[in-house]
Amino acid sequence: MKERTEKENQMEKDGKGSPDRRRFLWLSGLGAFGATGVGGAAVVADFIYPKVLFEPPTAFAVGKPDNFPVNSVTADYARKVYVVRTEVGFFALSAVCTHLGCITRWEEDQEIIACPCHGSKFNRDGGLLQGPAPRPLRRIAIRLEDGELIVDTAVEVEKDAVLRV
Ligand code: FES
Repeated sequence: MKERTEKENQMEKDGKGSPDRRRFLWLSGLGAFGATGVGGAAVVADFIYPKVLFEPPTAFAVGKPDNFPVNSVTADYARKVYVVRTEVGFFALSAVCTHLGCITRWEEDQEIIACPCHGSKFNRDGGLLQGPAPRPLRRIAIRLEDGELIVDTAVEVEKDAVLRV
């Protein structure tokens, strides 16, 4: 067993402990202080950094008018819209069911837009044929820009609005 030095004995008498113990306590305190500082800095940085939700743009190009045959309904399920071309012009419908938000489907053989969730049915103008959906499909803005049709899902328009091209 290691013999204690005179200095160690004196320090113990003075209540100061051994140098190893003091060094350990000092380093522990420094480590705790550092950890608290880093944690606090992380919380402040998290608070300052903006929380931005990156969502896809609501306005997007769907193609040139000539790509849409007269009297057609073209579904873009990825972007949840229908582009309808009539003999008069174009309009766009949201494909989101007005009941609980399921994505509807264009049933070409029956010429209806049907919701697979609870059976609502809409005509090609978005008009409600059968519930439980309480309202017609939303008619959304469509415009011509640089030869391309642009649909904007954030802008609802009158139910008889038509883009004449
Ligand atoms: S979500 Fe379409 S009928 Fe319920």
